[in-house]
Formats: sequence, structure tokens, C-alpha cells
Amino acid sequence: MLRSRYFLTLILSIACIFYFDSTKGCWAQHTLEARVDSILKTLSIEEKIGQLNLRGTSSRSKELSQELIEQVRKGEVGAVLNLTNPQQVMALQEIAMKESRSKIPLMFGRDVIHGYKTMFPIPLALAASWDMELVETTSAIAAHEAYSQGIHWTFAPMLDICRDARWGRIAESPGEDPYLASKLAVAYIRGFQGSSPGKPGSLIACAKHFAAYGAAEGGRDYNTAQVSLPVLHDVYLKPFEAAVEAGAGTFMAGFQDLNGVPCTANRYLIQDILKTKWKYSGFLVSDWNANKELIAHGYAEDEKDAAYKAMSAGLDMEMTSKTYERFLKQLIQEKFLKEEQLNEAVRNIIRTKLKFGLFENPYFKDRNLFPVLSQEHLSQAKDAAIKSAVLLHNQASTLPLSQKTSIALLGPLADAAREQLGTWTFDGNPNDAITPKKAWEQKGIPFQYAAGLPYSRSKDESYFKAAISAAKKSEVIIFVGGEEAILSGEAHSRADIRLPGNQEKLILELAKTKKKIILVLMAGRPLDIQAVLPHVHAVLMMWHPGTMGGPALFDLIYGTSYPSGKLPVTWPKSGAQLPLYYNHTNTGRPASASSFIPLDSIPVGAWQSSLGNTSHYLDLGYAPQFPFGHGLGYTEFSFSQLHLKQSIYQSDDTLRVSLLVKNTGKSMGKETVQLYLQDVTGSVVRPIKELKAFEQITLAPGMEKEVYFAIPIASLGFHDSQLNFRTEPGKFKVMAGNSSATLLTEEFILEP
Ligand code: GLC
Repeated sequence: MLRSRYFLTLILSIACIFYFDSTKGCWAQHTLEARVDSILKTLSIEEKIGQLNLRGTSSRSKELSQELIEQVRKGEVGAVLNLTNPQQVMALQEIAMKESRSKIPLMFGRDVIHGYKTMFPIPLALAASWDMELVETTSAIAAHEAYSQGIHWTFAPMLDICRDARWGRIAESPGEDPYLASKLAVAYIRGFQGSSPGKPGSLIACAKHFAAYGAAEGGRDYNTAQVSLPVLHDVYLKPFEAAVEAGAGTFMAGFQDLNGVPCTANRYLIQDILKTKWKYSGFLVSDWNANKELIAHGYAEDEKDAAYKAMSAGLDMEMTSKTYERFLKQLIQEKFLKEEQLNEAVRNIIRTKLKFGLFENPYFKDRNLFPVLSQEHLSQAKDAAIKSAVLLHNQASTLPLSQKTSIALLGPLADAAREQLGTWTFDGNPNDAITPKKAWEQKGIPFQYAAGLPYSRSKDESYFKAAISAAKKSEVIIFVGGEEAILSGEAHSRADIRLPGNQEKLILELAKTKKKIILVLMAGRPLDIQAVLPHVHAVLMMWHPGTMGGPALFDLIYGTSYPSGKLPVTWPKSGAQLPLYYNHTNTGRPASASSFIPLDSIPVGAWQSSLGNTSHYLDLGYAPQFPFGHGLGYTEFSFSQLHLKQSIYQSDDTLRVSLLVKNTGKSMGKETVQLYLQDVTGSVVRPIKELKAFEQITLAPGMEKEVYFAIPIASLGFHDSQLNFRTEPGKFKVMAGNSSATLLTEEFILEP
């Protein structure tokens, strides 16, 4: 008895000194918490509140404001965003570290979303690569370039699942699927934060916008998001949970209200889920002025009430508005808040600054070792643009072209350097971008060129003539159209997602020349291309491909590289179908080709119930233009021999699946083999399929490969109507293939 008590005491005393740091994968001493508390004890209440202030500056201001300098000197600022002048950063940090009483380093943040100077494809494009190594590499390069300029905190990755292409911020999103988005979350965070927190050249990540911001009603930015709790947990929270497990240093709250409570002051999200259920030890920052916007939401009466509600919910740091600075001390003095609530927020911020090495390295050690816009970075940017491109349509193998084919390079985005960089390109320079026109010129391939329209929204038909003339002198038209960068991103939602301006009309005019048309799209979202699809012979979605979009397109057009991207979002026929997503429930009356009668085929005077009462639109039907996971290559693959190791499983088993994939075409190709599961019957209706695994394989013509998947049965669980997470016994379907639509299927039984 004595021995066991001694042993227990020994274990407990060790536990009080050491803990296992999961982000480092090693035992660390409790010095971190001891250091946090020792710093906290030295702070006045004003200095504590100062740590909660994220001050905005403009990257276009030439001088540091005296007001900011004074606030830093008084210890009234915890972090600064948008300061991109390294000298100003070092000067301000010097004041914080040497002239303020508290001597706590400032954090310097910036939206480094898809590159800093070397611009990579927009995040929705990177999602289309389904290549986590690529995402990690591009994020690491972005981190190195930003760190070299005095930034060590990025407001990325954006992890908002989005099912509605009208939403402008779909461009920044990881797409519609929680499994793919969770894999992307980990890749971004590992890329930004590097192998250990605070390593020179790394950035502190910020998982945003917590949560369900992408469910904004109608796809209209900042709009309310009404999401059932089971769907919130099984879809929208998944990538954020992955971000916690990946060690994201910070989180950012969403602008919108979730089920009536703004995320900025949403106790359920912040306290119950992020801080209690997930035990998150970083800090949560508001979005721009979002504390103050609680008044406009109708959730706070005034700024004092806003400060009270946000702090009560657990929001740690306030971005740019000043409700905390102005009212927290008074709220504590008036006993509306306890100083311990303030202390908790300060601890989270101090802990993060300690954990990411800001005290040891406040001045960006070795920042000059990290190159910007190097050939290696540009080569990675080209590789990313190639791997993100999705070949949607390729009639009679129109692509790839022979370099002997005479081409007319047309369209408003064929030479639009700024536009191809996409949204959130604060620091990328269009002068560094190589457009398609420049790429063809650099390669010395003769071609006709005409913009056809001066910019994507233009309705000016005076440019048509030159484009038609150029087309007539060529064998094939490569039309580069789509959206200017400003037509997606924050606050830039579109109700009508067709090609803007007179692009449709121009393409139809060009079609009259009877030349083959290759439609290349540069846009921040899937577009309604119904009007032109019957008149073009290939469609290649490049998204906004970044600095090296032109050279990437060149290699794809001539087959030097092959397309391998897969849609991370369902591609609608029209915005009128939205929201539209693959992992939907079946309804009691699912539509099918056998039941659907297109509007124009309805007999006049048809009997009311003669059209088949199923879930569809009379005019648009029930299917998307292109399904989630779709993407063609320059070769073909066959899928066969889908095999399950067992046909009956228990809840603690692992589902083992194999299938044979063969390159049956004539050229090399990369295929993303996707595995979907369906829980056929549940206590709540379940999605008709859910992505549970994928693997990318590259095969030469004639080669084949057995692909294996191992899925823990427990991962098939879901949140039922009582929010219990569980798997339920019954029949499951296993589907595998190269998109969510073309799938081999097998079944198994999960026993009680
Ligand atoms: C913006 C965005 C957010 C960004 C922040 C700082 O309004 O919503 O994603 O990180 O402000 O620029």
C-alpha cells in the first residue's frame, strides 16, 4: 500500500513539472505556464488591456503614426497589422521591447493568404490540386517571404466550407467538403508554422473565420448563417478542429451571426467548443471592427455593451475597433466583468507569444536569409498553377495542341497581370506576373492576339472586330476569359455568376468563324457557362493562377504538363441552383434521368402529376454542370476490382478497401482516386455520399496500380439530433472512382 502511494506521489510530482508538448512531440517543463503567470503578475490593468489591442495601420502609409508610437511606448498595443515596412516594424518593436514598461514583443500580422511577393493560385485553386505537399510547400514559401519583410503572423488559412459560388470568399475557401478542407487545414498550418513554433522564416497561423461564415445565406457576404448544430459539427467545424490538432497559433472569429448570435461574441462557439471541448490554448482575435459591429448586428446596445458581450464570450483580442481599450477597465471596476476574465485573455496572448518565440526573437532573426521571388519560388508557383488547373471539358481530345497549330490568343484575361493574381494580393506585384500573352512571347511561338474586350466586365463591342479578324487567321482560338480579381473575395458576392460583360456574346461571335475554341477561365469561383459550353471544344479552369499563370497555361496547352486538378466544389449550371453540393441528403423523392422531363419537352396541357414529382427544377433539372471531384487529364483511367476485406464489421474495426486503377490511355497522367461512403439508413437522414479518403497516383500508359484505403469505422460517425457523436449499425455503401459521380460500389454491414 505504502509503495503504491509513494509511486503515485512521484508520478503526480513529475506531472507538475513536465507535460507532453504535442506541437513539439516532446516532454516540456511547465515553464511555459510559469512564465506566462510571472509576466502577467507584472502588468497593470492598462497594460493587460493593451495586450488585447490589435492596431490597424495602412500598408500605404509612409510614416508610423505618432499616436501608434505613443500607444506602443505606453504598452497599450499587443499587435499591429498591415505594417509592411521592415524598418518601421523594427523601430516599433524596439520601442515595445526597450521603452515600454512591460517590454512585451508586438505581433506583426498580415493577410498572407496565397503568397507574399510570389503569388500562388488562390486557395480554391490550391484546393483543386488535392495535393497537400504542394499546399504545405507554397505556404512555407509565403511564410519565408513575409518573414523576410517583418511579418510573423498571417491571417490564414481561411477554412470556411462553402457550398454557394455566389459568395465572393469562395475564392479563399477550401471548397465544400469537410474531409478535403481538414487535410488542407493541416497542410497550410504545417507550411506556415514550419516544423517547430517560432522557427525563423515561419508565420503564426490564424484559422479563420470561426465559424460557418461560408454558410452566409444567399451567398451574400456577412449575411446570417442559419446552420443546424449537427451540420455545424459534421461539416463547418471539421477543418477548424483539424486546425486545433495541427497546432494553429491563433483563431479569428467570423463577421456573421451564427443562428442569431454573432461569432464575435458567440459563447457556444468560443467557450463551449473552442476553449472547453477542444481545449484550445492559443487566442481568438476578432475580425476587422467586428466588436463594434455587434451594435449594427443588434446584439449590443453600444460599445461598452459590445466589449462586455465579447469578453464574456471569451474573445481574446480586438482587431482595429477600440471597445476593449475604452470600456474593459470600467466594466471591471463596475463589477460587470471580473479581472480574471481579462487575465485569461492576456494569458492566451502571452502564452502564444512565448510559444512562438517572440520574446527570444522579436527582431526577425536571419530574415535576410530568406529570398523573395527567387527562381525556385517562381518554379513552385508555376507547378502550383499547373496542378491547380482543372480540365472540365475536352471534346475529341482537342487538348493538348501541337505547337505547329496556329492559334489566336484572345480574351480580356489573356494579358491581365493584375487580374490573374486574384483576390488577397496585397503584396504581390502585377509587374512580376507572366501573363499568357507574355508566356507565348517568351516561348517565341507565333500567335495572333486580341483582347476582344478591354476588361472582363466590358460591354464595348468595338474590340470584337480585331478579335474576329485574329481568329480568322488562325486554326484554333484560345479564349482566356472569366472574372477580374475584384469580382471575388471579401464583400464581392455575385447573384449572377455568368461570364461578366459581353464575353458570352464575343465567344458566340467567334464561334461563327467555325474555328475550334479552347475556353480558358481565370476566375475566383465556378461560373455559369451554359450559354457558351455547346460552342467551345475544351474548357480549362485556371482559377486565378498567380504570378506564373501564363507559363503554366502554356505547358498545359501543349502537353508539356498534363492537367490533374479536381473540383473542390460542385460546378453549377447556374447560380439559381445554389447552394448546391455533392454530399446532400437524398430527399424522399430523388430525381433521376428516368423521371425528369425538361421544361421544353413538357407537352402543352400536360396532366399536373405527369412530370414525375421528384426534387428538380423544370428548367435546370437536378444535376450540376460538373460534379465535385471532377477533372479530366490527357489520358484515360479505368477502375475495377473494388474489394472490401470483409462484408461485416464491428464499430472498432478498420474498413479495408482496395481497387485496381489502370492508365488505359496513350500518355502519362495523374489520377486522384476518391473514396466515398454512405450510411444508407440513419436516425437522421444521412448524405448520399461523403468523401472519406483519396490518393493521387501517377501512371504511364498501360501501367496499373492496386490502391488501398484503410478507414476506421469510428470515422463514419456523425452527430445525431441530440448531438451525440456515434456510428449506427446497418448497411453502408462504399464508392470509389475519379469523381463524386463516377463510382464503383460495394456494400457492407456494420453490426450493432
Ligand atoms: C478582413 C477579413 C479577414 C482579414 C482581416 C484583416 O475584413 O475578413 O479575413 O484577415 O480583415 O485584413
